[in-house]
Amino acid sequence: MAGPVERCPARFGEFDLHDPAQAEHLNETLAEMRATCPVAHSERWGGQWVLTAYEDVATAAKQPTVFSSRQGATHPRHSDVYEPLPISLDPPEHGSVRGFLQPHFSRAAVEPLRATLETFVSGLIDELIDAGECDAVESLALPVPLTGLATVMQVPAQELPVIRSLWLTLKDTSPVDDPVGRRAANDALFDYLERLVESKRGAADEGVMTAIANGQIDGRPITREQALGMAYLLMVAGHDTTVAGIAWMLYYLASDVAIRHRLIAEPELMPGFVDEILRFDGPVPGMARTTTTEVSVGDVTIPAGEHVLLMYASANRDEARFEHADEIRLDRTRNPHVAFGTGIHRCLGEHMARLEMRVVLEAVLARLPGIHLAGDDGLDVRPGFVRGPSSFRIRW
Ligand code: HEM
Repeated sequence: MAGPVERCPARFGEFDLHDPAQAEHLNETLAEMRATCPVAHSERWGGQWVLTAYEDVATAAKQPTVFSSRQGATHPRHSDVYEPLPISLDPPEHGSVRGFLQPHFSRAAVEPLRATLETFVSGLIDELIDAGECDAVESLALPVPLTGLATVMQVPAQELPVIRSLWLTLKDTSPVDDPVGRRAANDALFDYLERLVESKRGAADEGVMTAIANGQIDGRPITREQALGMAYLLMVAGHDTTVAGIAWMLYYLASDVAIRHRLIAEPELMPGFVDEILRFDGPVPGMARTTTTEVSVGDVTIPAGEHVLLMYASANRDEARFEHADEIRLDRTRNPHVAFGTGIHRCLGEHMARLEMRVVLEAVLARLPGIHLAGDDGLDVRPGFVRGPSSFRIRW
């Protein structure tokens, strides 16, 4: 008799986060998987299991010694050469690196960034406002996270164009379609980050890069590999994710006049709206793990050494956890979404990401309150471990 996975619809065997044709309908596919086949197996990328129910995803994320990140949190890995830290570590090594970075990314630590971001976003809107129309991704979502990151990572103002161009090259070079180009783009970013770390040796300020350049982990000076692994991950994890978060937020804001009016009338709903967007269309649909031992999930046994995708986007639409999961609810009071993951790898930058989204939301509602979609051509969605709108036009 066929087992629970063999009975799944055959098309789930083709499930692929990197397939552009699948990205647009991701939420519909995940809903079907939850309903008929919550532990599925896809043949793509050498084979991968796909967990879609909230309970299964959260339980796996909280068992890092069984669902290991040592072989990478993406599959295929974004880089075989450089180890991004701490996302590719398991306990106990993970805790040491995470504990070192954590104080720099607490809610209180990132709050001073607000003033810089507000000035920056206000300047962006000054330049746009008379045009009456723009590409929301290129003109509003894309510039903000880089400014936030450059500030937190102590990039000197005159070097912003350098880091911006390194970033744009990396962003436009897919690890899947162009691994050689991606390697070159990664190398260039690493060279820059190495120079940045060197420039902070012996500095006495409280910044993150100064801490990385001069700090200790487990009583030993941070090595070059650790310093670059941390700096690299912050740049990579903090950029596209937040661009996508801002882009999704603007998309739903521009699509729904009732939401807009209510947020303007009741600004205290704004923080909840940001989290509701992250739940509804989170920038990170899933993350990868590798099993270290045979493990049962529901009625399926996954062997050791297998790749597993924890589908956060699916968990976030699971009706067993969220009432009216397929609706954006401004008055959702409890929202235990896993858009930032859960367990030991839960996003280090969550407060920074929320702050960036909030600053854009407040500025747009204050100065472009009539924002709406300029057309109804459908939305082009970028696939992958970071999933977001690639472009759409808005008017105000
Ligand atoms: C809306 C924006 C963001 C989203 C949706 C997001 C999402 C996530 C998710 C889902 C994870 C868990 C990875 C896993 O399960 O393996 C994660 C981890 C991480 N994120 Fe974010 N992220 C965002 C913004 C940021 C920002 C702004 C930064 C920092 C500047 C950042 C830094 C990190 C780091 C360092 C980790 C690894 C944490 C660890 O392994 O302990 N992220 N993020």
